[in-house]
Amino acid sequence: MIKVGLLGCGTVGSGVVKLLGQNANTIANRTGDEIVLKRVLERNADKCLQLGVDASMITGDINDIVNDKDIDIVVELIGGIEPAFSFIIQAMKSGKHVVTANKDLIAVKGAELFATARENNVDFYFEASVAGGIPIIYPLKQSLAGNEIKEVIGILNGTTNYILTKMTKDGQDFDSVLAEAQKLGYAEADPTSDVGGFDAARKIAILASIAFNSRVTLDDVYVEGITSITSQDIKYADELGYVIKLLAITKQDEKGQIQARVHPAFLPANHPLAGVNDVFNAVFVVGDAVGEIMHYGRGAGMMPTGSAVVGDIIEISRNILHNISIRVGCTCYENKKILDINELSAKFYIRMTVKDRPGVLAGIAGVFGNNNVSIASVLQKTTESDRAELILITHKVQEKDLKDSLTVLKGMSIVGKIDNVIRLEGTDREDN
Ligand code: NDP
Ligand code: HSE
Repeated sequence: MIKVGLLGCGTVGSGVVKLLGQNANTIANRTGDEIVLKRVLERNADKCLQLGVDASMITGDINDIVNDKDIDIVVELIGGIEPAFSFIIQAMKSGKHVVTANKDLIAVKGAELFATARENNVDFYFEASVAGGIPIIYPLKQSLAGNEIKEVIGILNGTTNYILTKMTKDGQDFDSVLAEAQKLGYAEADPTSDVGGFDAARKIAILASIAFNSRVTLDDVYVEGITSITSQDIKYADELGYVIKLLAITKQDEKGQIQARVHPAFLPANHPLAGVNDVFNAVFVVGDAVGEIMHYGRGAGMMPTGSAVVGDIIEISRNILHNISIRVGCTCYENKKILDINELSAKFYIRMTVKDRPGVLAGIAGVFGNNNVSIASVLQKTTESDRAELILITHKVQEKDLKDSLTVLKGMSIVGKIDNVIRLEGTDREDN
């Protein structure tokens, strides 16, 4: 019998307790042995009792789990950095295999966690940390291991995808949809990490490290959130054949240099990720052998996330039954350069309010031209008698050149305001 010690019986922990109970027979048959819950660490015992967990199994002391010789696998689902980090390290040093869904922790302390797992010859699995119920870490590490991965682009945050979908389909504004998302329990009480892009940044740091075999941490990821997106931008995106999505992007260039970024982007309406709506997540991967593939599903929630955690518990249990560990450990065996955003190039959408009089467009075009920014298209909308809204799309340009042009433009009397600047992504695919 494989015995599990669970840390945290909140949303995901409850899903794990339920799944290990409701599918116990199937899980035992697939694993080759029963998997049972032995102890649960939880400061609010009621949460566990409501799930039918016996009171004798509940503890508030981590030592009751890490010092229990019967426990094979510790499942960390309390979240955050501390005490989760110390608890995991303690568990590994006590010879326990570890499963976690904690993206916050892996995105900053992945290297230490893997090193401790290796030193103690234990497995460390974390499928649920990226895109909840969608299998993506296992496929990248195993099923796609024969490929050179070229890029991974994800819609990795359900809250922001829900907000952008509602703004696009129902014409709602940002604040009202955010309030609705909080009411429905999609967004956190403090949604900063979701709308600011940091939740997606943690997830793409994890995926980049695996895809390119080189450690990428949260600090390495360029992050922009969705708070600046307005219904105007969404309307123009639609008019031009795009949708706006918060994308988490990582790519490797021919020199083996990595880029990792999270920002809103204009995505061609025929891109596979463009149809991923509401709270759904998806991860689009391009490998040199497999070509384009997309993984789609629920990126959060009790049972979907529980599904990924239980999958990891089963995989480790199989390893235990075959007396093997670290079969698939840390895959970061290289130390690749991570490019700064200013070293990258992109196509851009620029929306600006300008004076509507002769010579203005020529003046603006001149500034872009002087800074090596080539314009692909211009749309002009007259808003008031003497004011116009300009919507420009650039060719692929250096980030630095675009920033230099915008600095000059902001100082010109003919430019009222640079309203928004959004990158285009996915325009180089053969379909476009
Ligand atoms: P919850 O806040 O719902 O659950 C955490 C539970 O752990 C709470 O019951 C909490 O108690 C308890 N807890 C926290 N610290 C301690 C402690 N020191 N000792 C004892 N109990 C403690 O979080 P989630 O289930 O939503 O998330 C768990 C992990 O899964 C996080 O790392 C999260 O990022 C990740 N995740 C979550 C997803 C989701 O859909 N929710 C999706 C993918 C990943 P209290 O309520 O008193 O704080
Ligand atoms: N807050 C996250 C989301 C939950 O909105 O996707 C899953 O990490």
